[in-house]
Amino acid sequence: MNIAAPLRSLEARYYTDPSVYQNERTGLLSRTWQFSGHVSQIPNVGDYFSFEVAGQSLFCIRGRDEVIRTFYNVCQHRAHEMVTGSGNTRVVVCPYHAWTYELTGQLRAGPNIKSVPGFNREEICLTEVLTEDFHGFIFVNLDPDATSMDKWYPGVREEIAAYVPQIATLAPLEWVEVPENCNWKVSVENYSECYHCPMNHPTFATGVIKPETYDIQPLKSGYVLRHTTECQSPEAMTYPIDLDANEHAGEYRSWFLWPMFSFQCYPGNVLNTYHWRAHGPKTCTVWRGWYSEGGVEDEVARKLAVQDRETTVEEDITLVESVQRGLNSHGYVPGPLVIDPEGGVNSEHSIAKLHQWMREAIDG
Ligand code: FES
Ligand SMILES: [Fe+2]
Repeated sequence: MNIAAPLRSLEARYYTDPSVYQNERTGLLSRTWQFSGHVSQIPNVGDYFSFEVAGQSLFCIRGRDEVIRTFYNVCQHRAHEMVTGSGNTRVVVCPYHAWTYELTGQLRAGPNIKSVPGFNREEICLTEVLTEDFHGFIFVNLDPDATSMDKWYPGVREEIAAYVPQIATLAPLEWVEVPENCNWKVSVENYSECYHCPMNHPTFATGVIKPETYDIQPLKSGYVLRHTTECQSPEAMTYPIDLDANEHAGEYRSWFLWPMFSFQCYPGNVLNTYHWRAHGPKTCTVWRGWYSEGGVEDEVARKLAVQDRETTVEEDITLVESVQRGLNSHGYVPGPLVIDPEGGVNSEHSIAKLHQWMREAIDG
């Protein structure tokens, strides 16, 4: 009988080697959809905010046509940065020599440019980056030839609309920032399996979900890991929910969008998000987003944010930082993944899928 050897975990260098991190920045992170912010941060024409993806400074700005565009944060004259932080502006003015751009990125004017024979204003525009509005969440892709989010994450837009029917009215209420001393992939892997949940997350595993029903499966196509589980019986829940509110009120589901974002819907149709950014081979930040209708005060979301920060998030920090230290150990030999053909909470098939995507991205 021919029995295949168990699949082994990735070698430590994927999580520690600075050249792997460099490769990810110019490769993977520059070719995938990355979260930048929420439309409610820039409600008015001319509102903007700057941010960074793969070491590149960018900014999103709302145009007169209400379209949100993203540009590299660099002037097309002699490379001064255009904006810092966030704000509102009628036109985008470079602080160096006052070249002025329309909200569409088109050059409008510059001191004395008319004196230059053949100077064609029309040819000069800030460099635009692909931008998508995904239920109010703004994503950008530095690859001008990237395919749409609906191709990367098939069906997810529609599923989220069914699980979070109020999503169009939501705005961020809490933005919990969690610095972690580990490679971003260690954190993403930890997020993407629940083999560690019963042992490490007593509150989550007894007060939010039923671990015995937990499963994480890649969708048939695209780059999505979908988590599904039933919620705890209403008496055991740490917050009240109305099971009759709609079809999916009693379910938990999350959609991890490779490589660095996840939408989660808690029982009661409570939306929250995870979003990672890498700062170096051994450091990253995770943001936990919590939302309410119009961003107004909401006791359940606020309480869940605190409960989650004090329990699941805190428990995970300890785990991922220990793993990162372990990856530096000369005694580590990548171990076999526990892949149960039946799936379920005690299986790491989702890690095998992540490792496949990681290998493809890093090794080409
Ligand atoms: S660099 Fe922007 S106007 Fe000169
Ligand atoms: Fe965890």
